[in-house]
Amino acid sequence: MATILIVDDEKNILKMVAQGLKLEGYQTMTASSGEEALRICASQPVDLVLLDIIMPTGLDGVETLKQLKQMQPDLNIVMMSAQKEIEIAVQTIKLGARHYIPKTASIDDIVLTIEPLLELSHLTRENEILRNQIGTQEGMVGESVVIQRLRSQIRQVASSNLGVLITGENGTGKELVANTVHQQSQRNHKPFITQNCAALPDELIESELFGHERGAFTGAATQRRGKFELADDGTLFLDEIGDMSLKAQAKVLRVLESGELQHLGGTRTLRVDVRVVAATNKDLEKEIENGNFREDLYYRLNVVPIVVPPLRERLDDLPLLVGHFVEQFHRENARLPKVIDSSAVRVMQSYSWRGNVRELKNIVERLLIMVEHDVISADDVMEVLPVPRDSSPPISTALSMEPSSQAGKSLQKMVDEAEANLIMKTLEANNWNVKKTSEQLQIERSNFYKKLTKYNLKRPEVS
Ligand SMILES: Nc1ncnc2c1ncn2[C@@H]1O[C@H](COP(=O)(O)OP(=O)(O)OP(=O)(O)O)[C@@H](O)[C@H]1O
Ligand SMILES: [Mg+2]
Repeated sequence: MATILIVDDEKNILKMVAQGLKLEGYQTMTASSGEEALRICASQPVDLVLLDIIMPTGLDGVETLKQLKQMQPDLNIVMMSAQKEIEIAVQTIKLGARHYIPKTASIDDIVLTIEPLLELSHLTRENEILRNQIGTQEGMVGESVVIQRLRSQIRQVASSNLGVLITGENGTGKELVANTVHQQSQRNHKPFITQNCAALPDELIESELFGHERGAFTGAATQRRGKFELADDGTLFLDEIGDMSLKAQAKVLRVLESGELQHLGGTRTLRVDVRVVAATNKDLEKEIENGNFREDLYYRLNVVPIVVPPLRERLDDLPLLVGHFVEQFHRENARLPKVIDSSAVRVMQSYSWRGNVRELKNIVERLLIMVEHDVISADDVMEVLPVPRDSSPPISTALSMEPSSQAGKSLQKMVDEAEANLIMKTLEANNWNVKKTSEQLQIERSNFYKKLTKYNLKRPEVS
């Protein structure tokens, strides 16, 4: 139900319009001066203001309009004017009024004017919600056992209102999991709102989460609703919760326990019904030990823990993921389609993917952009895959050891090491040109790639 604030110094008009609109199903409030209107709008949500132009004492309509717009730029304001003020009314459109109506207008006329405005605001809000969801709506790709287990965990928890804590390395898909929980819940037609808690100072994170009144702190020029309010009836995703300050943690806990909050600098209590899903790549139990995370909040959030596995534990999914990212790229970019062949995928499957699915997505996109030929093969992948900085030393290093260090190794192992060493040295000599090296060593190309994978040989990262 939309809330309309009627502002006029004439009591009769206030009463008449308020009663009429109430009968039409609106919630109404009245203010008999510009100052009172500003106070009301600063302390509670109002969807539309009907504002008289001439008010003899205090702020007049035009000044009130300016200040309201400064406070809440998106607020719908419709001016009411007597016939002789019509010139001024026209001018107010430039100042941000959405419309003007004569004071003699009937309730029907008023409804005809305000209803499309309210409808538009509603659609704009819905649109924003949808835009937020689209990016992550394509679902989780993968058929490996670990992904299937993850899917079933999500299904089980989605229908409840329980707190969910998602953990996993960078880029594993924690946000995607959070969004999937929301999409499969009964809240899925309501907003999914994300707040990244990392790297924001106390005051900002609190104002982001709980909203603020105008003037609550330096720079708070307008009133603002917080993410908890925006997520009402829906889901709030608190990303990187391990980085939230202790002070903000205490406030979040209070909202979760009471379902109530106040804007920073405000006095009115707002009720919210929000499901919180949180994610972190920190070890929160360790953070609790170190005094950086509240134990009570941890238990509240971690009713259902979900661990998203790293990509290296589900390399079976890699071909599907590569296909998915290639298709996604072609859908979003008007470029000639390219193919990533199976030799390329095999090389990718031998890589450790410390940046997980996000790194895979970046590499696929880089290949599609940088490689000029239509079929992307293992050579191209070798060119772009960096060697992780702290990976185990290459076999070539192991081979430069003294013969005594070889004692106790099987013959096969020594042969393998010698072969790996030779391939590595030849690759380096040929500046990692795979074609040239395999020809020189007279190893058939597909066999050559198998050996690269087997010995985990990678081109060193160019710094
Ligand atoms: N199973 C999957 N299927 C398809 N896309 C995926 C999958 N997992 C992750 N992605 C994609 O990989 C990228 C990274 O995922 P996401 O942002 O959810 O990871 P994250 O764990 O939140 O990362 P970070 O820890 O860096 O915040 C996104 O583009 C996401 O859509
Ligand atoms: Mg994330």
